[in-house]
Amino acid sequence: MPAFDQTTLRTESLLLRPLRESDAPALFGIFSDPRVTRYLSRPSLPNIAIAHERIARDVEAMSAGRYACFGIEQTVDGRLLGECSLFNLQEQCRRAEIGYTLAFEAWGKGYMNEALNALLEFGFSELGLNRVEADIDPRNLRSAKSLERLGFKKEGHLRERWIVAGEVSDSGLYGLLASEWISRGRNGQSSET
Ligand SMILES: CC(C)(COP(=O)(O)OP(=O)(O)OC[C@H]1O[C@@H](n2cnc3c(N)ncnc32)[C@H](O)[C@@H]1OP(=O)(O)O)[C@@H](O)C(=O)NCCC(=O)NCCS
Repeated sequence: MPAFDQTTLRTESLLLRPLRESDAPALFGIFSDPRVTRYLSRPSLPNIAIAHERIARDVEAMSAGRYACFGIEQTVDGRLLGECSLFNLQEQCRRAEIGYTLAFEAWGKGYMNEALNALLEFGFSELGLNRVEADIDPRNLRSAKSLERLGFKKEGHLRERWIVAGEVSDSGLYGLLASEWISRGRNGQSSET
């Protein structure tokens, strides 16, 4: 995969861009909020030093092309609203996994829908992916709705797949194919009339 450290994606109200060192306080604010981390596969960030470490790791992985992780910045005021990523990139099978997180205050406004439309378009059109998959906690209804709104289909349910901070949870597996993305058109709209 190519390096992603210079990649930016623009939408109507958002700029998706690589994370940088100065994002640490905002990132810590988002990932230390238990409302946000409730169903994530990693526990809440315990301190800002871990946010700095995560950003350093992301910067290195982005320049090596190992995964694509973008901060979601609101264009109007430069505020960091969250992040989204394509990871577990499999070149031979042209597939990747999608991840996404939004600050609690930004939920319910369609920002993630806007960001993931751009990320998926990038994944399918620029990276040539054939399939994008998601692994979510089935209790995370907001996440399931976001995926379904984008055209993902639920493909499976794996029992007791995760143990996070001692809590055991299942996996809901979702998939979206390039052929489905093209036939639906962007924003989940059907291109058929
Ligand atoms: C999962 C998560 C990103 C969903 O956030 P969200 O704001 O519901 O996501 P969307 O962008 O899809 O927004 C859809 C909501 O915005 C509303 N909305 C407003 N304007 C909209 C627009 N122009 N377009 C689409 N939706 C719009 C929709 O009605 C919907 O609200 P509703 O579900 O209350 O009806 C968020 O809950 C989150 O970050 N959770 C914590 C982290 C997490 O669990 N991540 C997933 C791990 S697998």
